[in-house]
Amino acid sequence: MVRAMSPPPAIALEIAPPTKRDVIENLFQLYTHDFSEQWAGQARGELGEDGRFAPYSHLDSYWREPERVPLLIRTGGHLAGFALLNRYGRVRPAPDRAMAEFFIVRKHRLSGVGRAAAHAIFDRYPGAWEAAVARKNTAALAFWRRTVGTYPRAAEVEELDLNSADWNGPVLRFRIGNA
Ligand SMILES: CC(C)(COP(=O)(O)OP(=O)(O)OC[C@H]1O[C@@H](n2cnc3c(N)ncnc32)[C@H](O)[C@@H]1OP(=O)(O)O)[C@@H](O)C(=O)NCCC(=O)NCCS
Repeated sequence: MVRAMSPPPAIALEIAPPTKRDVIENLFQLYTHDFSEQWAGQARGELGEDGRFAPYSHLDSYWREPERVPLLIRTGGHLAGFALLNRYGRVRPAPDRAMAEFFIVRKHRLSGVGRAAAHAIFDRYPGAWEAAVARKNTAALAFWRRTVGTYPRAAEVEELDLNSADWNGPVLRFRIGNA
């Protein structure tokens, strides 16, 4: 018997205008909180006395440098996460796009929102891609393997294992074909 697949959740992408910079900054607090779980024993990831994590130092560059793309992700009309794309890969040659940051809020996890959002991003931005995953982030590695593996126009998928001053963890490289 063939198991019925539920349709992917409807998502919407919006290139965040400068007026929505603070929305991404707010979501980044939640993102950093998730990551801080992996930073036990390290200096980074401490809260400031205002109860917030240190702001993300590259955020403003997403509205200064045209090759960077800040995206908001919605499902059912509600904010569900964000993605930050740039062209700074960890491996040479540099990719056309790197998934610098990607986040789905906990309420909407494990329901296909992340995959649907990533696939919608791939639809919009074909070319050579890279997604670097921190070594301790085994959930994200499983997510990217499934998400890239189920995208119909993903080719030349390779997974490298980096342990350099620049990056410690797996790096997925792949090509997204044009529709
Ligand atoms: C990783 C993250 C984006 C996943 O988003 P999501 O919306 O829950 O993912 P989806 O529901 O679309 O899952 C797509 C596939 O990935 C798998 N997956 C998602 N989260 C997983 C987890 N924690 N462990 C194992 N597999 C996982 C799903 O099972 C699904 O595979 P399937 O087809 O076999 O069912 C989300 O958990 C998140 O924002 N985490 C914190 C930030 C982060 O780590 N970002 C990535 C930086 S590289």
